Amino acid sequence: MERTLAIIKPDAVRRGLSGDIIKRIEASGLQIVGLRKLQLSRADAGAFYEVHKARPFFESLCKYMTSGPVIIAVLQGENAIARWRQLMGATDPKKADAGTIRKDFGIDVEQNATHGSDAPETAAVEIGFFFAQREILS
Ligand code: RTP
Ligand code: MG
Repeated sequence: MERTLAIIKPDAVRRGLSGDIIKRIEASGLQIVGLRKLQLSRADAGAFYEVHKARPFFESLCKYMTSGPVIIAVLQGENAIARWRQLMGATDPKKADAGTIRKDFGIDVEQNATHGSDAPETAAVEIGFFFAQREILS
């Protein structure tokens, strides 16, 4: 069993796509073991995407991620990290496979509808960033 952090980003929440995205998560067999909706502060966004601090797109990314509410979920299942990234598709919707969330719902390389952790270590840190242990089903 593995856990990963999923975010439905502001562009997708704003366009009323949360239900469609949650439907795809449930249809895939991944379990939602934690769920909340909130609006990130600039400090939240900067800390969450700290790894991209030196990138030219960092400021724009923080502005985008704080532009409206997000839905944050902890997903659980066998190979949850890879399975969720597969459901999302490539970062750039133009390069994402047919049938993926980013292909179907992403606007551009920044406003790409969802986030997913990329490794067990980052998943653990990202889940801890948003959820207390008692907020996750065991
Ligand atoms: P994420 O962390 O959000 O799941 O996305 P990812 O692993 O597929 O992509 P990553 O390289 O970690 O980038 C994080 C987010 O930054 C925005 N981005 N903008 N303007 C650009 O060239 C650019 N590149 C990335 C996207 O919102 C991306 O998901
Ligand atoms: Mg990433």
